[in-house]
Amino acid sequence: MSLPITGKVPFGGDYNPEQWPEETWQQDYRLFDAARIDLVTLGVFDWALTQPAEDVYDFSLLDRIIERATAERRGICLATGTGAHPPWLAKAYPQVCRTDFEGRRHRFGQRHNSCPSSPVFRRLSTELARRVARRYAGNPAVVAWHVGNEYGGACYCDLCAAGFRDWLRRRYGTLDALNAAWYTTFWSHTFTDWDEIEPPSALTEHWRGPDHTAFQGITLDYLRFTSDAMLTNFRDEKAAIREACPDVPVTTNFMGMYRPIDYHRWAEHLDFVSWDNYPPDDTSAARMALTHDLMRGIKDGQPFWLMEQTPSYTASRDVNPLKRPGLMRLWSWQAVAHGADAVLFFQLRASRGACEKYHGAVIGHAGRSDTRVFREVAALGAELDALGPATLGARTPARVALLFDWDSWWALEISDGPSRLVRYQQVVLAYHRALWDAGVDVDVVAVTADLSRYDVVLTPALHLIKGDLVGRLEAVAARGGSVLTTYLSGRVDENDNAFLMDVPGPLGQLMGIRIDEWDARGPEVVNPVRLGSGADQVEVEARLVFELVVPQGAEVVGTYRSDFYAGTPAVTRNPYGNGHGWYVATGLDQTGVSWVVRQVLARHDLLGPYPDVPDLETAVRVAPDGTRLLFLLHHGSEPVEVTAHIGGVDLLTGNRVEAGQPLRLPERGVMVLQEGR
Ligand code: GLA
Ligand code: ZN
Repeated sequence: MSLPITGKVPFGGDYNPEQWPEETWQQDYRLFDAARIDLVTLGVFDWALTQPAEDVYDFSLLDRIIERATAERRGICLATGTGAHPPWLAKAYPQVCRTDFEGRRHRFGQRHNSCPSSPVFRRLSTELARRVARRYAGNPAVVAWHVGNEYGGACYCDLCAAGFRDWLRRRYGTLDALNAAWYTTFWSHTFTDWDEIEPPSALTEHWRGPDHTAFQGITLDYLRFTSDAMLTNFRDEKAAIREACPDVPVTTNFMGMYRPIDYHRWAEHLDFVSWDNYPPDDTSAARMALTHDLMRGIKDGQPFWLMEQTPSYTASRDVNPLKRPGLMRLWSWQAVAHGADAVLFFQLRASRGACEKYHGAVIGHAGRSDTRVFREVAALGAELDALGPATLGARTPARVALLFDWDSWWALEISDGPSRLVRYQQVVLAYHRALWDAGVDVDVVAVTADLSRYDVVLTPALHLIKGDLVGRLEAVAARGGSVLTTYLSGRVDENDNAFLMDVPGPLGQLMGIRIDEWDARGPEVVNPVRLGSGADQVEVEARLVFELVVPQGAEVVGTYRSDFYAGTPAVTRNPYGNGHGWYVATGLDQTGVSWVVRQVLARHDLLGPYPDVPDLETAVRVAPDGTRLLFLLHHGSEPVEVTAHIGGVDLLTGNRVEAGQPLRLPERGVMVLQEGR
């Protein structure tokens, strides 16, 4: 099963009318009419309402909410309501509360607060999902199921310890295998009984927080276990929904680049991906492009839902900037350009109390429709209405893949040495940004993805190498493709043990290099790198990690300029089969990363239509009938003019565009060009 069946891009979002009087609902729906809101996400935090006591279920209020939404002909994304447990549950069963990294058993409070291993939580959350599904399964307005909310965090309680030991038994079978994987001879850690194994926390293997561990293998497995334990919670609820409702797709809202949960391990269990986009600041266009590409890549390029975004501001940050006029629209279209088949907000009406009362909403506390934010939402609603089904199910025709790997992310960031300053997301962002600036469509995919359809595969900071990946990367190069990897790749196996061979381990053949030494320095230390030769030569800056490369067949593309390794390779290119393996041995600045990436792209003729126009993003989607859609998204603050490189119709204005004609995009302008119509 894949995405919900809708006739256009669903538009709406989280709606919590249980928080205000029913008289207001009428007003809400008239405002929804004005904004063309056609989908409401209901019941996300309703557990205390729908199950006020262990043996009492009460759906009367939710019934009225759903009846109202149905009568108003809105689609419903219906939540099971298990994102926060009710007070009576924590009181009766303290085991449902989590134990934190410091070993403190929490008491009732907040949300996203349940121990994933608690049998009581598992039983009661599943039962609630079952009852909600049974009650509303027949309602055709329900187009999607929303399980839990933003799964995340971790628990270190005794139930999780027991769950971890079971998980380890399944993974390793014997203690001998586990001891070997964890390298327990080091520091006298040989386990002789499964019950000796403790979750890695501040009380056991860690100091200075979750990233400082004495045993990377143990911590890595606990991260995997936690992700799997929460996946089990999701699957429990999904199975309960399925008993009553076999055909409506089920999702849960992901959080983009969220470290604690390995979304790739969840992929096959979701019918479609949805995610909540709360960028850290208003200059995050490139980062959001990456996150959308990552979310689309989770289920093999299938479109996703943008489940939440704020129409104006968030409330949870120290400072919460307001989205400037046009920005919400631009970012919504950016999501669609990267594969979103729904545009939804958190939230449709603002809460009156508690910690999100200042969070942005389509409808504010005063209930007005004449605010700037409401007007912008309504204008976008009208645009999406006019667009109709044109983008639904459309795929991104990427010939470039960027591999994203939670195991590598974890392994790199829990490692002692070479450097604590190298952050996985920063490295990945720099390489994705180079593609984004060049206007290239890219799939951000798991290391297990089928690579046979790509000409270029980038694997930045691929610290941990597992499975048959190396053979598949070699196959890309052998048939004429390009594979690029960077410093700190190919260092450890799936248990986080070093390879007993030259760095970069099993990537060495493809890269045609060997690394014997590396130098990690503070951010103030710059080693200039000279890239290219002759007239094309450029000098850029490199920081943080400098690997010393000994070519084993690779050509030198760039060299360090200072220190005792001045003149030695910093960037190399190895002929491999009909293609190449590129290696970047240091943290090049963005100019350097872009220079290298453009060399690779140029070889495959993959630069986008406007690679040298700053802030102008382009993205392509191909509709199920083969129609190509070109999205032009202008993130700059001055108007920009370019020449149309294809002809078609701008779906937002209906205007015909001829190839070669000038195109003018205002500040935050958007164009959706349907080719050839
Ligand atoms: C998350 C949650 C919502 C809400 C918003 C606020 O995405 O899922 O319940 O708290 O954040 O930004
Ligand atoms: Zn627990």
